Amino acid sequence: MIELVNPFKPTAGAEPPVLVGRDKVLEDFSDGLAEGVGARGRLMRITGPRGSGKTVLLTELGDVARAEGWDVVDETARRGFSQRIARAIAGSGASPEFSLDLHLGVADLHAGTREPEADLDLRQALTVRARELTRQRRGLLITLDEVQDADRDEMRELAAAVQHLIRERYDVAFVFAGLTAGVLDLINGEALTFLRRALPEELASIPIDEVREALGETVVRSGLKADEAALERAAAATVGYAYLIQLVGYHVWRAGKKHIEESEQITIADADAGIEKAMSEFYDAVHESAVSGLPLRAVEYLIAMAEEPEVASTAAIAARLGVSASALTSCRRLLIQKQIIESNVRGCVEFSIPYTREFLLSNRESLLARYGVC
Ligand SMILES: Nc1ncnc2c1ncn2[C@@H]1O[C@H](COP(=O)(O)OP(=O)(O)OP(=O)(O)O)[C@@H](O)[C@H]1O
Ligand SMILES: [Mg+2]
Repeated sequence: MIELVNPFKPTAGAEPPVLVGRDKVLEDFSDGLAEGVGARGRLMRITGPRGSGKTVLLTELGDVARAEGWDVVDETARRGFSQRIARAIAGSGASPEFSLDLHLGVADLHAGTREPEADLDLRQALTVRARELTRQRRGLLITLDEVQDADRDEMRELAAAVQHLIRERYDVAFVFAGLTAGVLDLINGEALTFLRRALPEELASIPIDEVREALGETVVRSGLKADEAALERAAAATVGYAYLIQLVGYHVWRAGKKHIEESEQITIADADAGIEKAMSEFYDAVHESAVSGLPLRAVEYLIAMAEEPEVASTAAIAARLGVSASALTSCRRLLIQKQIIESNVRGCVEFSIPYTREFLLSNRESLLARYGVC
């Protein structure tokens, strides 16, 4: 009998079996490629919380561009990214400084022909390549991930270079992605007006009926079957959050596979068992690590916030803690900076990741006990 393989991929950056809920972004981007120089879809910003699917989407857009014959450079905005892009484009990134050959078990270490790297001019490297590609009726896509961490000067250099290429009427596209608050901070900063014009694509939660359909399709393709009610329950538990689609899918599938000798049908009991496993893993991997090491005040802030409505007023949180709102400013800033909460409405805060409230309320005592508070 063929061994069935779990098709779900609850791993950062891993391509999911079905890319759910991204038709609009893909269409915006494909249209951008087709519409020519200056099209909106060629300059795009993708934002969303951790685990909302930004990296996976960048990979997918890269595939779309490649299918149209474009060159694609994928980078992460760790320090030095503008030089890494320049090198990748100049082709020097492709030839390693040292190459290790294994002949008949004997290792030879060759020094490469390259001299130690001098700084490359990013704009020049991009211009030469983009001109060449445009002449061949192809184009150049640059994707940049984790942009909330980008060095401002490097970002400015890259933005200026891309802007220059568009002005020169070359076929280029630039898509950057990152955590919502961090990206907005960055592009609203000085001299980044060009990036402010990028087409915004916020990865909000994916509609549950699309999730249910994708779960069903994935299960069937993998060789199992599922009750409609089981799919519905599993889909609802994901709340349309990309990472949970994979995590819940993974554990529900696994619960179903356990009884494959008797039945290959995933039942509602399997869904419940799988959801429970997924949530416990989610709490450990995401929420526990987010709160660990926070000062007591920040944990108290979060618990008070969990008692409030979804969009919590900072004044109400302060009232619960019996202090003035201004006394909590640095605490709030820390939690925003750690991407545990966000402030999308003035004077209000929300949790960035689903189920944070449930995690806090069900673990309130044990969280406070860590600080000797009962
Ligand atoms: N559209 C989607 N449909 C289904 N699953 C998805 C989708 N997008 C991403 N996923 C899954 O969600 C998880 C997180 O994806 P990804 O790493 O791209 O998120 P991210 O937003 O880049 O997170 P981070 O901010 O931590 O880098 C992965 O397991 C991935 O397979
Ligand atoms: Mg990512």
